[in-house]
Amino acid sequence: MTKPMTSAQAIALENQYGAHNYHPLPVVLSKGEGVYVWDVEGKRYYDFLSAYSAVNQGHCHPKIIGALNQQAQILNLTSRAFYNDMLGKQEKYMSELFGYDKLLPMNTGAEAVETAIKLTRKWAYEVKGIPEEKANIIVCENNFHGRTTTIISFSNDPDARKNFGPYTPGFIKIEYNNLKALKNALETTENVAGFLVEPIQGEAGVYVPSEGYLQKAKALCEKHNVLFIADEVQTGIARTGKLLAVHHENVVPDILIMGKALSGGVYPISAVMANDDIMNVIKPGQHGSTFGGNPLAAAVVMAALDVIQDEKLAENSDKLGKLFRSEMGKLVEKYDLLKAVRGKGLLNAVLINDTEESETAWNICLKLRDNGLLAKPTHGNIIRFAPPLVMNKEQLMECVKIIDKTFAEF
Ligand SMILES: Cc1ncc(COP(=O)(O)O)c(C=O)c1O
Repeated sequence: MTKPMTSAQAIALENQYGAHNYHPLPVVLSKGEGVYVWDVEGKRYYDFLSAYSAVNQGHCHPKIIGALNQQAQILNLTSRAFYNDMLGKQEKYMSELFGYDKLLPMNTGAEAVETAIKLTRKWAYEVKGIPEEKANIIVCENNFHGRTTTIISFSNDPDARKNFGPYTPGFIKIEYNNLKALKNALETTENVAGFLVEPIQGEAGVYVPSEGYLQKAKALCEKHNVLFIADEVQTGIARTGKLLAVHHENVVPDILIMGKALSGGVYPISAVMANDDIMNVIKPGQHGSTFGGNPLAAAVVMAALDVIQDEKLAENSDKLGKLFRSEMGKLVEKYDLLKAVRGKGLLNAVLINDTEESETAWNICLKLRDNGLLAKPTHGNIIRFAPPLVMNKEQLMECVKIIDKTFAEF
């Protein structure tokens, strides 16, 4: 096992001993730094996925790794049976940065979404006065909020759902980006507790809602005393050109869900934030996680958020995102294969002129890999482009050249 491994060997090992719950692009990575990753044969690539937007600060950011290393030698895990001297600092830091009274720490995005659902239901029964067991949460079609049994219960992706039932009840699905549908659901459904929404639907293919959608949706929720719950797991932490995607519309969610890039791409950290009137419904013993709120995570998250602010990554994402979409717009004009480009900040997607069932986007991603850039299709005909936010203009323009060259080869 100490011998260097070839890509073929590494892939064969995973195929034999690992569950086949993913279909990775055939490339085996063994090193990362900033916007680059290297495969086991030493070839360098631009990372244009950033681990689904978890590596916004770039691979192995020295400040984040420094904080990780320093804390790792002092104290890592106490569980919440005892206090530790780091969690309170993280909670204060994030309360001040995001503007909420309180934080509930978890580890993964799906766990944070589950936490938000539990919080919403408990608030509905204990504060709003909905009869027990009757709370409904409105969600959107084509949502992606994670993989737990409850979350996939309200997915409409057959792969995510089929044969995992029986499903958790209490969710009502409406069309995304449709205020009339939301208004109608709020007016005609009994016992609505919350509206759970992604500010941009990432996994669905980077669907950016119409301007004003989030603000008007929030106002409708307020009118009906329904909690507006924003899942910023993918869109948050500067990815879309602001610290949070809801900031584009000056919306303050009642419950804010974050994950992925809170970790700086090094250690799983997620969080739910809310004000006291909501958060205080959770009492000791009613929710938790062995690893949630550990001191190592606290050190990492504070360093990860320092980097976002110190290096002005939201501003960089906004600036480079505009440049990227304008350059991709030129390629859409140039190649029939490309239908459109859409996105916000450095969360973007190009639509390939082929059917969802086609292999075209996959084959393009293979060619992009050969040309030194890693991206992955989301659905059969959409390719997401989401590089680390530490990219500079020269690097971005080199990537545009790689993408142009790749389309020219088709
Ligand atoms: C919007 C959104 N919510 C939740 C999740 C789930 O996060 P995790 O994979 O960390 O459980 C994801 C992951 O892609 C996501 O994009």
